[in-house]
Amino acid sequence: MGRAPSDSAGGDRLRFLRSFLASPRKVGAVLPTSRRTVDNTLDLAPLEEARWVVELGAGTGVYTRGILERVGSDARVVAFEVDAQLSSILASQLRDPRLSVVSDSAVNVARHLDGAAVDVIVSAVPFTSLPVPERKQILRAARDALGREGIMLVLQYSPLIERELRQTFTYVRRRLSPLNVPPAFLFACQGDPRSPAGER
Ligand SMILES: C[S@@+](CC[C@H](N)C(=O)[O-])C[C@H]1O[C@@H](n2cnc3c(N)ncnc32)[C@H](O)[C@@H]1O
Repeated sequence: MGRAPSDSAGGDRLRFLRSFLASPRKVGAVLPTSRRTVDNTLDLAPLEEARWVVELGAGTGVYTRGILERVGSDARVVAFEVDAQLSSILASQLRDPRLSVVSDSAVNVARHLDGAAVDVIVSAVPFTSLPVPERKQILRAARDALGREGIMLVLQYSPLIERELRQTFTYVRRRLSPLNVPPAFLFACQGDPRSPAGER
């Protein structure tokens, strides 16, 4: 697929900063993720083969654009963003028949998927600054939405979430994207430890 329409970087940064100032713990960063880090993250999963892709914490859509560039023409991409203003701007900016923008919390991911087994989940939700029950709920809801071979990619600005990821998934790989500001920790998570032999 060709490049998805690019964001107006200045306007998006300003909107993102405003959302951060209004809810710093929920937004968790002052700037959208850099393009290089988006690419480093998305390289960790075979998006070209994915039929169902879910994004959690879409913000101004830097990952959404990257995902749309990689998936095929019959893929479905469902992007969750809890900030109503950010989600409505994203939905109006990114008009693509493969994309649905959902203005709801990632906690409710299953409600919007109609039982689909998701191939790839991409999350930039700032887990470590959310209340513990909310982040546990999101991680479990995401794991339960994945198909057997499904993979969840997680971007964080600290390695603190790794322990919880290892409790939630059978396999967790970690990468660093050092040139992001701040440096980003990327995780690729697969498998449900409750399945026999930690099946994927
Ligand atoms: C660090 S920002 C990442 C934004 C964008 N994906 C990026 O990489 O630039 C985290 C985003 O997650 C959103 N968010 C926080 N909690 C959420 C939740 N429970 N459900 C959905 N989105 C959430 C915030 O509103 C914010 O837009």
